[in-house]
Amino acid sequence: MNEVINLLRSRSSVRKFTNQNIPQDTLDELIKCGQAAATSSFIQACTVIQLEDSDKRNLLADLAGGQPYVASASRFLVFCADMNRHQLVCDMHNSEMISGYTEQFITATVDVALFAQNVMTAAQSLGIEGVYIGGIRNNIAEVSNLLELPTLVYPVFGIWHVPRLPCTRTRNQTETTLISRLKNRPLSRRQRYKNHFRIRWTSTGILSKPNRRHKRNNMERTNCKHVS
Ligand SMILES: Cc1cc2nc3c(=O)[nH]c(=O)nc-3n(C[C@H](O)[C@H](O)[C@H](O)COP(=O)(O)O)c2cc1C
Repeated sequence: MNEVINLLRSRSSVRKFTNQNIPQDTLDELIKCGQAAATSSFIQACTVIQLEDSDKRNLLADLAGGQPYVASASRFLVFCADMNRHQLVCDMHNSEMISGYTEQFITATVDVALFAQNVMTAAQSLGIEGVYIGGIRNNIAEVSNLLELPTLVYPVFGIWHVPRLPCTRTRNQTETTLISRLKNRPLSRRQRYKNHFRIRWTSTGILSKPNRRHKRNNMERTNCKHVS
């Protein structure tokens, strides 16, 4: 349809990479793209930590459940939800920060996700690939200590950034990506929510609408799962 749509539809996580570095200027530009994302009530609750120290990277790779690429990728960014900065600003203005509600947790985490996805997409447009590493929350307390995070700051995920290998994509990548995902229809409903329990799952992902036998049999016996 257009280049942006093609770019978005061809996205996928990349776990193979070259040893090429990414210039700091480029990384800074990507962060600016993240900053351009919408932010709830303009609180800008995202802080990105660029982790360079190789000892810390090695440790983080272990803490993330043994994901070696966390240590070996050319760049690794940790995206943190940060209400500490908001607290500081409120203190500076002698106003009280509303806190202690799930709402603030959601707000800050969503801010981070929007920020990060902008960074990811901008990177992709420059031929720089990555993958989210939510594994850093496996040991969130240790990771917070490692990164010396203050109170009201927590790591949401990391992303590594690596120059794209010449052959990481095939001509049919868009098609492949879409096939392995939920079909568009159950994701987007008109008028009202519907349970999609009639979709058939396998270990490789969604297959298709079930045949009659699947409709008759109960979900467990047919290896189906509720998607709701
Ligand atoms: C919040 C989040 C955390 C993720 N954490 C990891 C991770 O720790 N390790 C990993 O290899 N992939 C991780 N992924 C990548 C997903 O596994 C991947 O996006 C999913 O399997 C779909 O594949 P695709 O991105 O290639 O389309 C994460 C993705 C998201 C959105």
